[in-house]
Amino acid sequence: MKLLILGGTRFLGRHLVDAALARGHEVTIFTRGRTPVPWRERVVALTGDRDPRVAPGLAALDGASFDAVVDCSGYVPRVVEASARLLASRVARYVFVSSLSVYADVSRPGLDETAPVAILADPSTEDILPNYGALKAACEAAVDRLFGARATQVRPGLIVGPYDATDRFGYWVARFVHPGLLGERADGAVVPAPPERPLQFIDARDLAAFILDLAERDLPGTFNACSPRAKWTMGSLVDTLRAAAPSSPAVAWIDEATLVTAGVAPWVGLPLWLPASEPDSGGFMDMDCSRAQGAGLRTRALSATVADTAAWLAARDNTGAWKQVLGAAAERRILESSG
Ligand SMILES: NC(=O)c1ccc[n+]([C@@H]2O[C@H](COP(=O)([O-])OP(=O)(O)OC[C@H]3O[C@@H](n4cnc5c(N)ncnc54)[C@H](OP(=O)(O)O)[C@@H]3O)[C@@H](O)[C@H]2O)c1
Repeated sequence: MKLLILGGTRFLGRHLVDAALARGHEVTIFTRGRTPVPWRERVVALTGDRDPRVAPGLAALDGASFDAVVDCSGYVPRVVEASARLLASRVARYVFVSSLSVYADVSRPGLDETAPVAILADPSTEDILPNYGALKAACEAAVDRLFGARATQVRPGLIVGPYDATDRFGYWVARFVHPGLLGERADGAVVPAPPERPLQFIDARDLAAFILDLAERDLPGTFNACSPRAKWTMGSLVDTLRAAAPSSPAVAWIDEATLVTAGVAPWVGLPLWLPASEPDSGGFMDMDCSRAQGAGLRTRALSATVADTAAWLAARDNTGAWKQVLGAAAERRILESSG
């Protein structure tokens, strides 16, 4: 297959390129050339900017044609529309990497692909952070308009694994397997109770394999792409982390009220933690992804994701990391206050 990847060099894209090369596909990537390209001779690396207002824009794609494009760097509908318009007559299938954040109301568990998506209050906004989900939904709509049944929408939940530089899943791996990366830590690790808290995420390599399957099979549709509901909990994650660590810290299950009083920022200070006091996000870690599982999305063992993430964290340059997660002093104070 002749495959174009819009993006490809940071995280999910890297795994997509690795997997596509392993499957024998002919891979072209399109980036600004800011992030190093790890496979210099094995991919065609085109340079430009997805935003047509930023020279040289998409000019490097002129005249090229592909069997499929995977768009893993689209956030703004105007920009996504530009690539979809340019490629509509030259690419058979457009796979857009969207997000589970598209849904308008994630307060209840079990949302499937038929749930309503968020709508932009201001359709002209390009302010990504506060409008991420609604912008992604508008990007999907732009691809659908131009590609119709030749569009495929993939909505991942939290993507985890090697090359994830966001300190989210990586925080938990570091806290248990490589605590030294987080500074001088107490022997107890603060973990948000209860252990039954449902968790959902997807290893970037499983997601990449699924996306390539969809492209190879030329499959249309929209897919929530995450681990099956209730497969993992905070408790099973902690068990897996402890099993991976030669000497792991003691586990201190801390109730939500204590964490809220201590000013711990949900999702950011303690990643994966969405407190019950924020009911609007109550279903975010409990989505129905059965359509994707039915179409072949596989979920590797959590122990494999933990081990590979741990190896990557130990090898990378950690300078500048862990800026927003719960610090050592704050963690100690919580441990002391909870006796
Ligand atoms: N991480 C998560 O948990 C999560 C969850 C749900 C959905 N998603 C979605 O998953 C996708 C994957 O993101 P990723 O960062 O891992 O993808 P990636 O393809 O590995 O990295 C982003 C790529 O886009 C390129 N790029 C950025 N801006 C560009 C521009 N204006 N023009 C051309 N190229 C540009 C970057 O290269 P240069 O810097 O060299 O330009 C880089 O290669 C995103 O669409 C994200 O919304 C992520």
